[in-house]
Amino acid sequence: SSEQPPKDKTLDSTLELLQEGYPFIQKRCQQFQSHLFQTRLIGKEAFCISGEEAAELFYDSEKMQRHGAIPKRIQKSLFGENGVQTMDGEAHQHRKALFMSLMTPARLETLKILTKQEWENSLNKWVNKETMILFDEAQELLCRVACKWAGVPLKEAEVKVRARDYGNMVDAFGAVGPRHWRGRKARKREEEWIKDIIDKIRKEEIQVPEETAAYAMAFHRDLDGNLLDLQVAAVELINIVRPIVAIATYITFEALALYENPECLEKIRKNANDDYTYWFVQEVRRFYPFAPFLGANVKQDFEWQNQSFKKGTMVLLDLYGTTHDPMLWEEPDQFNPDRFTEWESSCFDLIPQGGGDPYMGHRCPGEHVTIDIMRVSVEFLANHMKYDVLKDQDLTVSHVKMPTLPESGFIMSNIRK
Ligand code: HEM
Repeated sequence: SSEQPPKDKTLDSTLELLQEGYPFIQKRCQQFQSHLFQTRLIGKEAFCISGEEAAELFYDSEKMQRHGAIPKRIQKSLFGENGVQTMDGEAHQHRKALFMSLMTPARLETLKILTKQEWENSLNKWVNKETMILFDEAQELLCRVACKWAGVPLKEAEVKVRARDYGNMVDAFGAVGPRHWRGRKARKREEEWIKDIIDKIRKEEIQVPEETAAYAMAFHRDLDGNLLDLQVAAVELINIVRPIVAIATYITFEALALYENPECLEKIRKNANDDYTYWFVQEVRRFYPFAPFLGANVKQDFEWQNQSFKKGTMVLLDLYGTTHDPMLWEEPDQFNPDRFTEWESSCFDLIPQGGGDPYMGHRCPGEHVTIDIMRVSVEFLANHMKYDVLKDQDLTVSHVKMPTLPESGFIMSNIRK
């Protein structure tokens, strides 16, 4: 028989979650001295779990499923409806293989070259400006990279609006009210645009290279041999473009980390060790908050750590808390790339983009894309441009607002080559 798990006494913790943000789960785990506690969220019974073993449980597809776990409001803004995020089992694996097939070494090499070129093009424009907000500029830069790489024809005049739309879809995930509605409006507009492009690719009115995401999404066949519904194909192509634009958040955090840790900047400049840039990137992904937690539903009754999990119960896996778990990371609240010197991944410890095997489960298929773009970007910031960091700006990173960013977006001035 099972014991009662630690239980949050409040009737419903949704409000506390929104008031506390990223530390919500970890704070309670520390209070209860447990990697598991029970609560109620959006009116439902829920287990919150944190840490390496919790991540392993969360990615056990015999025990957990995604179907019905993603709130409609998130689908209508961040993810889109009927995309890979909501699927389970064989159908999920088949769809996921489509995403993974786009991440070959050759395609990643192309991506790195495109990214470097766009940094160079952007720098030529920045040198004439007095100041610029790095986050905004990085979104536009990455929107150009994403569309080129994915085979999506993008006119220069559209860049600003589309870059902001993709950013707003992401910004909507932790929001109620205006930020949520801005995300929905952005999704509507971008789905219309991408649907039209896929339709034209299918009718051969637009030619795109076979190795691109646009081609793959247009002509992918499901397990029954059918093309994807136009709407779903658009959702999946947006599942490539939107998160590449979202890497602007990590680029902004990279610039902040360089500014606040000048010794890291020196090490990257000296380029004494090629691995150092990689450790720096990993530490940025570990240290700074982005995706706070993930949700799934219990697929069938089971016991874990002496607690019984009943079918249908919601389970939230704490991503932020796991990347700051003192059991896994020494001095987790210190920024220290050197911690990766002798690190060996267990697949369930460094999980800012989910855990497990991306082919089998829902782990992000874009981790190599993210890491490669971050590497090229930090090397560019450190070695190929000079800038001042505007003194009079608010660089604090709220841990309540989800998703978060340095308040000012990181304002640079006096930009030169
Ligand atoms: C899934 C984070 C970049 C495509 C995920 C998940 C997280 C995540 C937390 C959920 C994992 C799960 O449900 O178990 C991030 C972060 C990124 C990023 C923080 C940095 C900006 C990317 C990129 C791409 C991408 C660059 C594509 C090029 C996807 C897709 C899924 C996903 C398609 C759904 C996978 C599935 O449900 O099987 N990501 N991601 N992401 N990500 Fe990323």
